[in-house]
Amino acid sequence: MQEQQFIPSKKYQLPEEGHVAWESPSNIALVKYWGKYGEQLPKNTSISFTLSHCKTTTKINFKKKDAVKDFSFEVYLDGKRTESFEPKIKKFFERVEVYLPFLKQYHFKIETQNSFPHSSGIASSASGMSALALCLLQLERQANSAMTEEFFNKKASFLARLGSGSAARSIKGNLVVWGEHQAVRESSNLYGVAYSDDVHAVFKDYQDTILLVDRGEKQVSSTVGHDLMHDHPFAEQRFTQANDNLEKLLPILASGNLEEFIHIVEQEALSLHAMMMTSHPYFILMKPNTLQIINKIWEFRQTHNSKVCFTLDAGANVHVLYPKEEKEEVLDFIKNQLVGYCQKGMYICDEVGFGAKSI
Ligand code: PMV
Repeated sequence: MQEQQFIPSKKYQLPEEGHVAWESPSNIALVKYWGKYGEQLPKNTSISFTLSHCKTTTKINFKKKDAVKDFSFEVYLDGKRTESFEPKIKKFFERVEVYLPFLKQYHFKIETQNSFPHSSGIASSASGMSALALCLLQLERQANSAMTEEFFNKKASFLARLGSGSAARSIKGNLVVWGEHQAVRESSNLYGVAYSDDVHAVFKDYQDTILLVDRGEKQVSSTVGHDLMHDHPFAEQRFTQANDNLEKLLPILASGNLEEFIHIVEQEALSLHAMMMTSHPYFILMKPNTLQIINKIWEFRQTHNSKVCFTLDAGANVHVLYPKEEKEEVLDFIKNQLVGYCQKGMYICDEVGFGAKSI
């Protein structure tokens, strides 16, 4: 599909007022997206597990207004007016207006909340931007009942991507691929597609316990981070590595070979951080406790013949990934040996989920 296909071709009879509400999950990338071009298009293909419990719930009340010159909206986080969110949302509205040409006709009251603690260091942009995109597209769907479910999901992912790249992977499916790759049918740079080709049962309920090592503000915003890939000395090798890793991962997802799975997932996490450590300017986003945890995980894996592994986002927190059959053992390990490395002992138990829900 092309961008133009997401521009409504007809004028619809839009509702005067109403409300829409969606909850949308966060996701954790196995093969990482880091580096973009054009309008939020990825330099390499990525794949993620959709999460289940870490999610954003967004409700929008909309009402037609007279003047259609400007966007008009107010944002509430956990019931409190949060003006600091508004510039980012305004930018999002500007980007998506051509695909949702009715935006200036309404005043929107946007109420949003996250299931995970604010400033936990867990990125809320994937769940937040996808929930917002779904709500706005739901308004279009109210006026266009002919819109198919398939088109709705594609366009929601397309719009979410324009808010935050990784948000494209938070709409549908337990595994989602974003970025064109010859090994994945119908994959696209424009939106994420659910990957359901041949996936071993072990991955259907994979566990992700997120250890909150550093709950502070992000040291490097992802916009700055992606930009650092522009004249990065290893950029081209990194994009090739990620695309190769994606291709290697597909047969592993089918066979359930966890040793090979671990190898790719951990290499991806460390490669992402290696990019940040070797850019200009350079950053170390891991904290001493991140490294302590990684070493403990490696030790536990060896001594307990476990399949536990880790991945990282662009920050210090550690996602501990493991098959459900190891849940009890790994949670004991976390409680006994890892909690001491978490800020205020905080961690969040999550697992693979299936995507966003209208509520
Ligand atoms: O969606 P963004 O622009 O915040 O990028 C996030 C990128 C990573 O989380 C670091 C990796 C990924 O693929 O999710």
